[in-house]
Amino acid sequence: MKFEYAPAPESTAIVNIQSEYNLFIDGKFVPSKGGKRFETINPANEKVLSRVTQATASDVDKAVKAASEAYRKTWSKLTGAQRGKYLFRIARILQERAREFAVLESMDNGKPIRETRDTDIPLAAAHFFYHAGWADKLDYAGLGKNPKPHGVVGQIIPWNFPMLMLAWKVAPALATGNTVVLKPAETTPLTALLFAEVCQQADLPKGVVNILTGDGATGAAIVNHPGINKIAFTGSTEVGKIIAKSVASSKKALTLELGGKGANIIFEDAPIDETVEGIINGIYFNQGHVCCAGSRLLVQENIKEELLEKLKRRMSMIRVGDPLDKNTDLGAINSQAQLMKIRELSESGDAEGAERWSPQCELPEKGFWFPPTFFTGVSQAHRIAREEIFGPVLSVISFRTPSEAIEKANNTPFGLSAGIWTDKGSRILWSAQQLKAGVIWANTFNKFDPASPFGGYKESGWGREGGRHGLSAYLKGDFS
Ligand code: NAI
Ligand code: MG
Repeated sequence: MKFEYAPAPESTAIVNIQSEYNLFIDGKFVPSKGGKRFETINPANEKVLSRVTQATASDVDKAVKAASEAYRKTWSKLTGAQRGKYLFRIARILQERAREFAVLESMDNGKPIRETRDTDIPLAAAHFFYHAGWADKLDYAGLGKNPKPHGVVGQIIPWNFPMLMLAWKVAPALATGNTVVLKPAETTPLTALLFAEVCQQADLPKGVVNILTGDGATGAAIVNHPGINKIAFTGSTEVGKIIAKSVASSKKALTLELGGKGANIIFEDAPIDETVEGIINGIYFNQGHVCCAGSRLLVQENIKEELLEKLKRRMSMIRVGDPLDKNTDLGAINSQAQLMKIRELSESGDAEGAERWSPQCELPEKGFWFPPTFFTGVSQAHRIAREEIFGPVLSVISFRTPSEAIEKANNTPFGLSAGIWTDKGSRILWSAQQLKAGVIWANTFNKFDPASPFGGYKESGWGREGGRHGLSAYLKGDFS
């Protein structure tokens, strides 16, 4: 007999979504100069949530001027302790309004409320608390005496962790004394617009944070604006390369946080039940829309069958559906375009001879959905072993010896994350030394902390975000 869960929907009464939004420039919501509006939808039911503004080049210019003036006249005149007060204030307001942010994020993005409530929003607040603490201690960060900010920074963020990526960008920029022009992704602009209200509520001086909605054209106008001194980008490797080229001929500083194809390596002596949980968390967290996802499972040949049996049982318990239901594990795919990409890459897996497995699960009729999936019989040459799928799809590859595991793990153009599962401390250290990945987890996965630097090697990006290393990216000087 199968016991079903009763529905446990989170109420949406706490959010107040306006039918249209203007741009947040110089402390106020202002209409665009000539920009059209575009819709943002809830990907779980395809309903239109609101219409936001496509910021034009002249809006970008206005925002950069506001940020520049705020930098010269106010923000650079404050002491670190004074800046810290604003950051603490923002952090506390995020905590107070956490439920509102969590519900709004789930609606606009499609991710489960359990994740926005327990991960995205608490971590976003933690980033502001952490950086508030640094604001008056920059002289002691080992980055030289009295280190100086860049001035105006342009920040472009993706749709997979909208509010968390905003916090990763805005908190260190403000703590180090920069002012900001930020663009959220086109499918998930609403929490950034709510954050603009938080800036007002915190009495942040006008122009210190400016938020412009829009697509890649708005992003490019930010990247190419001569009044911007530093660009911080998170998104696809493809766009990262375009930005690197545009910035190369300028004096702008640059950090890029791009894609990944992380190896989650399971050695024969791994604690198997915990490992299964780690695999699930590594690839099915946030529908697999995670740059550091453990999307390649490297498993030692002699435990493969046992591990996959347990993984199948566990995957059969993943609850797919309404993101606002508190029991949901896997929510909606963020957009139709992303769903097409996941389907296309999965079909290439079928065509190239890999074998697909998904548990039985009923997917809702409306909205964008993809079941938790893994492929076996994957070779190193298959597209599903090489390209970022950015969806709930795992590629299983086996190995016989530890050195073969390392060789396969490093055989990728990316180098963002890796996981190691073993009972032996010496094997963790041995593996971690040889893996070319910016973040390595041992006997856990997808753990984030504002104090810990995050970033990649090779095509996964340049520079680090978070921790003391992340601060250096927002200060002038070569700290490498
Ligand atoms: P994208 O890289 O196009 O979008 C990220 C951000 O960049 C958005 O705010 C977008 O408006 C902006 N943007 C786009 N073109 C730009 C340009 N020329 N100049 C400046 N800004 C620009 O990513 P997209 O199209 O949403 O997703 C495509 C693929 O990228 C995904 O399937 C996934 O594989 C990967 N991706 C990786 C992310 C990561 O965190 N590593 C995040 C988002 C996507
Ligand atoms: Mg949306």
